[in-house]
Amino acid sequence: MRAPAPIALTDLSGADREKAVPVVIDSFVGIYRWHAKRTLREVSTVRAAVIGGEVAGIAMLERLTPSVGYVYYLAVRKAARRQGVGARLLDDALSGFRGGGIRVVYAAAEEDNTSSIALFLSRGFRTVERRELGYDEGGLGAWGLRSRMWIVSGEVLLGLRLAPEPAVRPAARRE
Ligand SMILES: CC(C)(COP(=O)(O)OP(=O)(O)OC[C@H]1O[C@@H](n2cnc3c(N)ncnc32)[C@H](O)[C@@H]1OP(=O)(O)O)[C@@H](O)C(=O)NCCC(=O)NCCS
Repeated sequence: MRAPAPIALTDLSGADREKAVPVVIDSFVGIYRWHAKRTLREVSTVRAAVIGGEVAGIAMLERLTPSVGYVYYLAVRKAARRQGVGARLLDDALSGFRGGGIRVVYAAAEEDNTSSIALFLSRGFRTVERRELGYDEGGLGAWGLRSRMWIVSGEVLLGLRLAPEPAVRPAARRE
């Protein structure tokens, strides 16, 4: 039996992002495909998993605030699924966010997207409740950020805390 082809992770920028369009077409339909293609061109970071010279999977990543990261889209070509490519891309995204000082990471998925939800849960994400303490107060509530995440009805918001919020220093005591 042959060993699986190695996966190389790389940044895609400028015209190179077009190489990821087949992944988007293979992974999304309807309005999601339209939005994913638009996001592919506009988002600040696209990480690609390259196998045998072809883009097999992508992660579209954004920094929403200095301490909050967002996984807009994570997608792997059908032919390359269940081989650990999505997990490699997500681990890479989390390590990039961690290295950039991000404390909370969010991602959204359709509530029946079991593969995607299972992948995020396997990396420690959990469902974010509508009314929980905000991310800047130690919870995962995405107050003020949901509209920028383009979350639509029927989707769940998932969140992961990478680092605690900095302790608030008590005000200096006056004598
Ligand atoms: C979600 C997606 C990116 C997963 O990519 P992948 O390369 O197949 O995932 P991996 O092989 O790395 O799997 C990692 C883990 O995810 C979970 N998982 C992935 N596919 C799964 C499936 N079909 N059913 C259940 N769990 C699944 C498992 O926990 C798996 O770990 P395991 O293999 O040890 O059981 C891929 O299915 C995809 O592109 N889907 C279409 C696009 C999409 O819906 N993206 C998410 C919303 S942005």
